[in-house]
Amino acid sequence: MPIPARSVERAGVSILVFGDAGSAGRAAALRIQSTIHAAVAERGRAVLGLATGATPQKVYAHLVALHHDGELSFRDVVTYNLDEFYPIGPLDPKSYRSYMHRHLFSHVDLAPNHAHLLDGTVPERFVAEHCAGFDRWIAADGGLDLQLLGIGRNGHIGFNEPSALSVAEALALPTRLVELHPVTRSDAARDFGGVDQVIPRALTLGVAPILAARSILMLATGPHKADSVARALGGPMTAGLPASLLQSAAARVTWMLDEPAAAGLF
Ligand code: GLP
Repeated sequence: MPIPARSVERAGVSILVFGDAGSAGRAAALRIQSTIHAAVAERGRAVLGLATGATPQKVYAHLVALHHDGELSFRDVVTYNLDEFYPIGPLDPKSYRSYMHRHLFSHVDLAPNHAHLLDGTVPERFVAEHCAGFDRWIAADGGLDLQLLGIGRNGHIGFNEPSALSVAEALALPTRLVELHPVTRSDAARDFGGVDQVIPRALTLGVAPILAARSILMLATGPHKADSVARALGGPMTAGLPASLLQSAAARVTWMLDEPAAAGLF
């Protein structure tokens, strides 16, 4: 694994800071590889929670390279993605289903029926049932061995957006349909060709199933993440900054950062 420039523990949370985003992404991929190998050796399969966005693209590129080098197979891997726009078709290039196909699924030996995403085509009256089913499938697969996360500039995880809920209510949030926060919509504008074109709702894995993962790997890179990273790690737990809720699972969480994203921490 690339050597982190700094490795610190804050209130039981492990924080690894790397010299650049490429090294952080490579370290995240190697952590995922070792999690897959350990889970397959122990239980015959590995269950991964996957994220989208710009940040994990480097991770997927490294995982694909490991696969091509014969050092990683996805034969015994099952995946669940964090979120999906709603409504959206799977073939829409802006869907997270097509993102996953482009960056990972089409390049590795993951069986198509092992790759689960929330379905942006489910009729709205069945959405609640679909979301509850997704949580049950994860549980039936034995729970997530590792959840890969990114952080929004507003501190969101998946599409769990800032809210005025109590901490207890936020920690209990299940998988569900949500309205996107204005900051999320403006950040998605680059992919949708304008903020008015952004699909305003999404399906997201809830805070509760995210926190239930046996390990959580948060990857954040770039100076635009420094503020939400510093508040998530150094501020109080609050539903106003959903990533701060990771403090409740501190011992199972690793933050992998580049220097710019860690700028507010030291
Ligand atoms: C997106 C996704 C999140 C992701 C975050 C950061 O909207 N829903 O799961 O972690 O925002 O994205 P990026 O890596 O592009 O900054």
